[in-house]
Amino acid sequence: MRDFKGKIVFVTGGASGAGLGQAKVFGREGMKVCIADIRQDALDNAVKELIAFGIPEKDILAQKVDLTNRAEYTAAADKVEEVFGGPPHLLIQTAGVNSFGPIEASTFDDFDWVMGVCLNHVVNGLLIFVPRMIKAYAHKTEFWVATTSSMGAFMAGSGTGPYSASKAAVNNLMYSYAEALKPYGAGATVLCPGNINSNIGNAEKFRPANLKNTGYHISEGTMASLRAIHATGIDPVELAEILKEGIENERIIVLPDHTPEKRAAQLRGLNETIENYTLTRAEREALAAKKAEERRKMFEEMAKANEGKPQPPRRPMGWGTPEGAEPFGKARDDLDWIDPSKKL
Ligand code: NAI
Repeated sequence: MRDFKGKIVFVTGGASGAGLGQAKVFGREGMKVCIADIRQDALDNAVKELIAFGIPEKDILAQKVDLTNRAEYTAAADKVEEVFGGPPHLLIQTAGVNSFGPIEASTFDDFDWVMGVCLNHVVNGLLIFVPRMIKAYAHKTEFWVATTSSMGAFMAGSGTGPYSASKAAVNNLMYSYAEALKPYGAGATVLCPGNINSNIGNAEKFRPANLKNTGYHISEGTMASLRAIHATGIDPVELAEILKEGIENERIIVLPDHTPEKRAAQLRGLNETIENYTLTRAEREALAAKKAEERRKMFEEMAKANEGKPQPPRRPMGWGTPEGAEPFGKARDDLDWIDPSKKL
């Protein structure tokens, strides 16, 4: 899809972070911008930012929607047609939340919240919008679906279980849609960023009241740590430009800020991880020991080569230790089956 001007974009999670960056970038291309988000204050602020970015107020539709609620999502889709005369030509599903802790500490609420937003809202949007988009635009004009997933889609994480699982599922879905939409003259793109300068570090503050029973240790301090990490992430507008290039060139996966060489090396590493899962434990451990030995030798040789030479100062950790920070990814203290080292 290369022709955006005068068309309609619908961005979920569009009031903040990556979604707001996407609303800005596609709005600047002359699209009518629909943003949907669960937080009214963030939506109000986003509308101001979009106007300041140069998008005419008449071209903006901001809706407060819980995207995990199918009735609310459907009503929001109806409103787009009422206001702008048709369904979106470009659907970008970016709303997301995260929560970190040992997977064996997870509660149903942890899974329901994270999977509900990160996976189910994507399913909701695809089922609500794609039939409308096909009917309105197939073989008449370009249209496209995109989702913001994560690098986490390619990796399992013992402390990111529900999040990684939801993102892996989203990727797989988008590969299916990329194939399925071809005959209609459309396609799908999945954006897989590593770290974004966004507000996701505050997500726990907005966890719905009916899903608050977490198995993880969550506090102001864990959120402070996450905020500090995300502050070093890619700028949302820059990320949205990368997504736009991906959509224009019909990439199915977009891995931001990666040179082709770095991307290839990273994907080889990820493939190797999957391949290693098929080995026996003994084979895996032998391979890990061989790699550790190779790394040890490499560092030894580097140290020898640098002997006597002045060394550059050690690079500080990107995010430092913010005031009141606590480690995140730990379990709640009262869960008696959890290894104590996984508690704070
Ligand atoms: P953000 O917190 O700034 O934006 C996410 C938005 O989603 C928020 O405005 C939030 O209110 C909204 N939202 C949450 N639940 C909702 C619901 N039920 N209905 C409607 N809106 C809802 O976070 P960010 O980082 O911009 O997240 C965007 C996407 O990027 C997410 O899917 C996230 O998983 C993904 N991502 C983020 C990374 C990061 O480092 N921040 C890295 C990789 C992927």
